[in-house]
Amino acid sequence: MIQEMDTLKIRSIRIEAEDIRSFELVSTDGSCLPAWSPGAHVTVSLAGGLLRAYSLCNHVREHDCYRIAVKLEPQSRGGSRAMHCLQVGDLLRVSAPRNLFELDAGAQRHVLIAGGIGITPLYAMFNALRDGPVYELHYFVRSAAHAAFMDQIGLEAQFYSGFGPAQIAQALADIVGRHAGDPRTTFYTCGPASFMAAVEAALCAAGVPAEQLRSERFSAEPAVPGPASGGFHIVFARSGIEADVPAGILIIQVARECGVDIPTSCEQGVCGACLSNVIEGCPEHLDAYLNDAERAAGKLMLPCVSSCQGPLLVLDR
Ligand code: FES
Repeated sequence: MIQEMDTLKIRSIRIEAEDIRSFELVSTDGSCLPAWSPGAHVTVSLAGGLLRAYSLCNHVREHDCYRIAVKLEPQSRGGSRAMHCLQVGDLLRVSAPRNLFELDAGAQRHVLIAGGIGITPLYAMFNALRDGPVYELHYFVRSAAHAAFMDQIGLEAQFYSGFGPAQIAQALADIVGRHAGDPRTTFYTCGPASFMAAVEAALCAAGVPAEQLRSERFSAEPAVPGPASGGFHIVFARSGIEADVPAGILIIQVARECGVDIPTSCEQGVCGACLSNVIEGCPEHLDAYLNDAERAAGKLMLPCVSSCQGPLLVLDR
């Protein structure tokens, strides 16, 4: 269950960098698309039932199109490969934008730190910030050939090309060190997990509170299945089926064994395909999809990765 999808047409495809293509998506009748804010992503439905989330990277003032950029991943499970096979004029099912990576309206300085294809949501932020508040964009890439949006970003970003882990750590320490101790600065990062871990380590070493960092992950951390205390009992209310979920076993595995149909795609708590209503019980959220308010409300959960904190969980499935 994800947000309602609309059919959009690919108006243009552009090669942004080695293995990175951007796609301009427009409505089929030329009408405006739902508004969004920097940091938002859309979910795209691809052949074979694949659902993939991609950050929007154009300017929020462009009301007639969404632009996404996709890196062809050698380890692709089908999503990036399918995207790179698309042609101008092809139709795609696309969700309304959703934002879990908002700019901090209270910050007086925004420090954007991108690693590789993690530039996409930060590029939308950069587009929104460049005429206004104080910002910095730091862009780490494997080589100049791997840097997307170079012609638009121009000299306004600080580039770091071909750095090894030690050089990255030093550069991050320098970036963070310039603003450590200033509570009015908010840091933003997106990139590979190891890169984001390096950003977090630099902030931690500089004593910057965790609240001053906002981040967007490509995929959730590996799931920690089952509550530490042991298993729990699950009721799939609509199916009229119940079962025990042993410690270390995912809800989605139990659902499959019982014949309960829960749609999935990423199986990493990222895409929202398995979003389920909670009727009873206290979810243990291990996803990267729900926002803080949704987690606190406890009415929704992603059973592909999340678990239960008590002895009983009742889902509307
Ligand atoms: S399958 Fe993607 S969030 Fe559960």
